[in-house]
Amino acid sequence: MPVLVTGGAGYIGSHTCVELLNAGYDIVVVDNFSNSKPEVLNRIKEIAGRDFKFYAADLLDRNGLERIFSENCIEAVIHFAGLKAVGESVSIPLKYYYNNITGTIELCEAMARHGVKKIVFSSSATVYGNPKSVPIKEDFPLGPTNPYGRTKYMIEEILKDLYVSDNEWGVVLLRYFNPIGAHESGRIGEDPNGIPNNLMPYITQVAVGKMDKLNVFGNDYNTHDGTGVRDYIHVIDLAKGHLKALEKVMRGSGVDIYNLGTGTGYSVLDVVKTFEKVTGQVIPYVITDRRPGDIDMCYADPSKAFDELGWKAEKDLEDMCRDSWNWQKNNPNGYE
Ligand code: NAD
Ligand code: UFG
Repeated sequence: MPVLVTGGAGYIGSHTCVELLNAGYDIVVVDNFSNSKPEVLNRIKEIAGRDFKFYAADLLDRNGLERIFSENCIEAVIHFAGLKAVGESVSIPLKYYYNNITGTIELCEAMARHGVKKIVFSSSATVYGNPKSVPIKEDFPLGPTNPYGRTKYMIEEILKDLYVSDNEWGVVLLRYFNPIGAHESGRIGEDPNGIPNNLMPYITQVAVGKMDKLNVFGNDYNTHDGTGVRDYIHVIDLAKGHLKALEKVMRGSGVDIYNLGTGTGYSVLDVVKTFEKVTGQVIPYVITDRRPGDIDMCYADPSKAFDELGWKAEKDLEDMCRDSWNWQKNNPNGYE
């Protein structure tokens, strides 16, 4: 029985589809291409050497979802579909609440109508807000500081309530830290629209000549070199975490929450230096003002995922930089 992957044409979803296909799962993918391109589907098939069913549909379209569940005997759902730009969520919050929360409610209603009660959800380290200390454990207080983060927090609560109402639900909430990197083939990777918001795609676009320099947002943070520290995780390690989470939901019911990070924090300048070392590219940068809302340090204690799922990140920052660059240099214009 196939696994439904929502948002499977996106950055993390596409890498997870490859890992699922490689592991022998049948998958059905749904995406509305609001932040992705159809070409990614060909690339997934090419890498995995296997075909899968795809629906160009929106989670907000009840009839479209109904069709997917009627035509396929779905066993479990991995739910990536959502909007994710923090800044945009501050300017257009209703779009984020409607798409992310209503989309999830429509999905869960369709699942319930068809007796599908196993879901793995893409949450985010952003639910912790400004953590009281690092490394961050799953039982730390939550306090997202922007509408995007609040959609993740609210969806976590909705899925917990669903389990309380019906103990047959199996829910895994995965709180990702900072995914970067790409498949080692260089055929799939992150393809942001317009000017990248996130550090690694910005660096690779400087390296490929699309941007002239990196703006480093502040060097007066309380960190070893003054620049912000994050827990960067290779997207393939993250994808593999979803297979472990899927095995967990299939084993039984309940709600389980896991941090997916490496447990190591790197500063902006650590990332720039490592990128330069492994790629031989020079990344010109200037120090600018802090970006509003940014925090000093954010990295995971990933030990719960290791103890309970047997998962841990295997790839290091050099792998992440090498693979991000390999994708960008082979696809300077992304999937276009
Ligand atoms: P992405 O934008 O590349 O992928 C999301 C996909 O969902 C896109 O292909 C988009 O077209 C699709 N989508 C959005 N709304 C939809 C809808 N209503 N119906 C159908 N399809 C829809 O993002 P990503 O980086 O792959 O992130 C995947 C998930 O992980 C998201 O939920 C995101 O919030 C979460 N997450 C991402 C990060 C990160 O830094 N990339 C960190 C933490 C959490
Ligand atoms: N940074 C720069 N220059 C840039 C972009 C980023 O200096 O052009 C710095 C930031 O100030 C921060 C670090 O690089 O110190 C990482 O920034 P990102 O934008 O790559 O990532 P964030 O940690 O800010 O946020 C990301 C996702 C969020 C998610 C969060 C935790 O964008 O959606 O990780 O998972 F919630």
